[in-house]
Amino acid sequence: MKRYRLSVCKGSSCKANGADAVYAEARDSLSAGKLVPRCELYRGGCYGFCHMGPNVVVREDTGRKRDPLSPEDYQLMGWPGEVYYSHMTPEKMRRVVEEHIGKDAPVKELFGQPDSDSGED
Ligand code: FES
Repeated sequence: MKRYRLSVCKGSSCKANGADAVYAEARDSLSAGKLVPRCELYRGGCYGFCHMGPNVVVREDTGRKRDPLSPEDYQLMGWPGEVYYSHMTPEKMRRVVEEHIGKDAPVKELFGQPDSDSGED
């Protein structure tokens, strides 16, 4: 089984759109699924896709030390195993935890596409 790092954006736009409830659901779902040992949960952001929030970034934990001041907390890195989820809700978050974290099966239909969505708002 893989290990993960799951970040919910803490930026003001994502918060205004419900990121705190998404974060709470991630915490509760990880706990309910006994997945806490396999997934570090934290708040990152702003990722710069504010109009698509609440935004969530899941990365495979490769043992790389996480520097709190590193760019990974406010931009996508393009690393293998990095997945960006947009327009998140608690219901979608639960699904991401159950399938992506719990079964190593990223939820493709919820993937965000930061470059192709720029004209939406
Ligand atoms: S506030 Fe979340 S991406 Fe900007």
